Amino acid sequence: TKRYTGLIGAYGDRLPLAADARPISLGEGNTPLIRLDNLVSDLGREVALYVKFEGLNPTGSFKDRGMTVAVTQAVAEGSQAIICASTGNTSASAAAYAARAGIRAFVLIPDGKIAMGKLAQAIMHGAEVMQIRGNFDDGMRIVKEMAQQAPVSLVNSVNPYRLQGQKTAAFEICEALGRAPDYHCLPVGNAGNITAYWMGYTEMAKAPGEAGTAACAFCAGDCQYHQAAVSSRPVMLGYQASGSAPFLRGGPVSHPETIATAIRIGAPQSWDYAKSASEESGGWFDEFTDEQILETQWLLASREGVFCEPASAVSVAGALRDIRAGHIEPGSTVVCTLTGHGLKDPDVAQRRAEAAVSTVDANSTAVREAILRRLD
Ligand code: F0G
Repeated sequence: TKRYTGLIGAYGDRLPLAADARPISLGEGNTPLIRLDNLVSDLGREVALYVKFEGLNPTGSFKDRGMTVAVTQAVAEGSQAIICASTGNTSASAAAYAARAGIRAFVLIPDGKIAMGKLAQAIMHGAEVMQIRGNFDDGMRIVKEMAQQAPVSLVNSVNPYRLQGQKTAAFEICEALGRAPDYHCLPVGNAGNITAYWMGYTEMAKAPGEAGTAACAFCAGDCQYHQAAVSSRPVMLGYQASGSAPFLRGGPVSHPETIATAIRIGAPQSWDYAKSASEESGGWFDEFTDEQILETQWLLASREGVFCEPASAVSVAGALRDIRAGHIEPGSTVVCTLTGHGLKDPDVAQRRAEAAVSTVDANSTAVREAILRRLD
């Protein structure tokens, strides 16, 4: 068995990097695929429902998959600085990988609308953080201009190396299941990730009759998943927050709003790619209110022990609704991506926590009584 060293070590042969490029890695990828049996038994439907918990990447989100490849390439090209616009996670990841590479990171974040954990990460990793008087879409427009006007490499998902890295999550899912799932559910913001997954599944499946193989990335060829044949691709389901749902409105939304700040985006950069992934796969888009998103985040944490950030929970909200409604067929295998860790956004969670905390005297009698009262 080989030691796991991150995505470039695992999938270098399927990434467009020069063989002599120095990998900038934090050991990202290889995240768990967790089966949600409690939520499924609550539903009373026959499905195999899984979450790919991307919150367990080194900086706590799926962005690390894209960033290891994008920063490795930027450094190989001689870049001394990277830049991105971000709702938070991209900036945290860019900052960490830049720190590791010994280059500078400039990040543009929307004024006041970024989760505390993400901002703390960008600062701790030494990024130059610029809070702009505007939203993510404004930031995106500016950083694309900066990539032309200043010596900085753009590492948002319009950089094709980002999507190349992110496609590897689809590889891992096929390895873990021994096949592709029937449905794949994702939160959609800038629409890079749904595009990347579709690329990954397409590479796995190849042309009909010429099945790709899901070679396990880090065994010596003796694990149960090694070389599973993959002949199909999942139906791709994209879910958005109602206040930031351009795919449901049929065009850009000028003042996106949602408590799920990660996906507070009105003008997705990968619009065309995401549209065609959805259409080619026979998929659809749907939307959820902030209240429904928070309810699902709570369900996942309290019923399954999986704490994701609000934006991530919209994928599971979608899966549960579509399973219940029968849009997802009984007997299906369904995978939802949980894009970021719940600890990224402690403010939102803490509002619930405060309600749940009681104060008791510091003695055994008081604590015992409190325990017994609650077990009643
Ligand atoms: N979930 C989380 C936790 C995210 O941070 C993002 C995007 C998405 C979902 C949506 O993915 O943009 O590929 O459709 N966050 C970006 C950022 C925009 O700046 O961190 P997408």
